[in-house]
Amino acid sequence: MAKTYKIATIPGDGTGPEVVREAIKVVNAAAAKGGFKLEYTEFDFGGTRYLRTGETLPDSAIDAFRKFDTLFLGAIGHPDVKPGILETGILLKIRFALDQYINLRPVKLYPNVETPLKDKGPEHIDFVVIRENTGGIYTSQGGATRVGTADEIATQLMVYDRRSVDRCLKYAFELKKKRNAQNPKYAAKPITLIHKRNVLTYCGDLWYRAFEEMGEQQYPELKRDYNHVDAANMWFVKNPEWFDVAVTENLFGDIITDLGAMIQGGLGVASGGNINPEGVSMFEPMGGSAPKYARMNVINPMAAIGASMMMLDSLGETKSAQMIEAAMIATMKKMKSQAAGKMGFSTTEVGDMVAGMV
Ligand code: IPM
Ligand code: MN
Repeated sequence: MAKTYKIATIPGDGTGPEVVREAIKVVNAAAAKGGFKLEYTEFDFGGTRYLRTGETLPDSAIDAFRKFDTLFLGAIGHPDVKPGILETGILLKIRFALDQYINLRPVKLYPNVETPLKDKGPEHIDFVVIRENTGGIYTSQGGATRVGTADEIATQLMVYDRRSVDRCLKYAFELKKKRNAQNPKYAAKPITLIHKRNVLTYCGDLWYRAFEEMGEQQYPELKRDYNHVDAANMWFVKNPEWFDVAVTENLFGDIITDLGAMIQGGLGVASGGNINPEGVSMFEPMGGSAPKYARMNVINPMAAIGASMMMLDSLGETKSAQMIEAAMIATMKKMKSQAAGKMGFSTTEVGDMVAGMV
């Protein structure tokens, strides 16, 4: 009997539903070829529901999510909702509750996709950032006193324990090993730890020692490198070809992956996975809900399609994931631009083209 994967979709707000629809179209085409089945259950969490009911994401939804093979998210964000409510109440809640401790963000420039970096092409920009996804400054430890007075004090702590650091590093080293075996071009490059250990002498030191120890003891064959995060920003722009697998803590990863998204062609193409290697993961396009483009059929679904490719890869359907990537590349070659409204095609047409070539 054909294998059936149970997928929970959260199309969300703005352009989320439009891009999720196209990604599903593509995944279904891949499944038909790959001989597996997909069963989707849609959840309506997001800003629209919050404005209607006052509810972000109940605990019962987390319990429900645990029964799925994977989650697929469109976008969460609504112009009428105060910043922070939906982010913490939905997105971060899912990441934490399902212990999705890896945020995997490929930075890959495909042919015919424009990068703002002068003299750089697909041969220079092809790496992945592994962002630790449940710790650090995102743990909400800290507080504020004397709020609203001239003496106000606020703290927000960067919290890490060795176990969280080690499990993230382990994932990064394993991925590096896998990539090295795939392509000698990757094997020539190091795995890079990014932090700020010259100033963050506690957390930076923990990450650095853990990285060095694991590398030396368990992966002596892999070349290691270390960059301070500010310098890494410069190198992403000046020498992106130096990177293959970069691993970093949560907030630094958040910041540098927006830069990564830009050099690979923008939010129209950047995808990410919130991964629990032992549990339920969630894949998403990196862009937001883009309310000004909602329901116009002009948003680029490529980032969502890329996220669906990552989803199939994580489910073990690697061949189908590769077929999707090939179809994405063929489609991108025909597109005028990867920017919303400038693609030369509508949202649905881009989805049709990719699905047609899978
Ligand atoms: C991201 C986003 C989120 C983050 C926000 C929306 C909470 O910026 O996925 O990168 O900071 O992780
Ligand atoms: Mn971010």
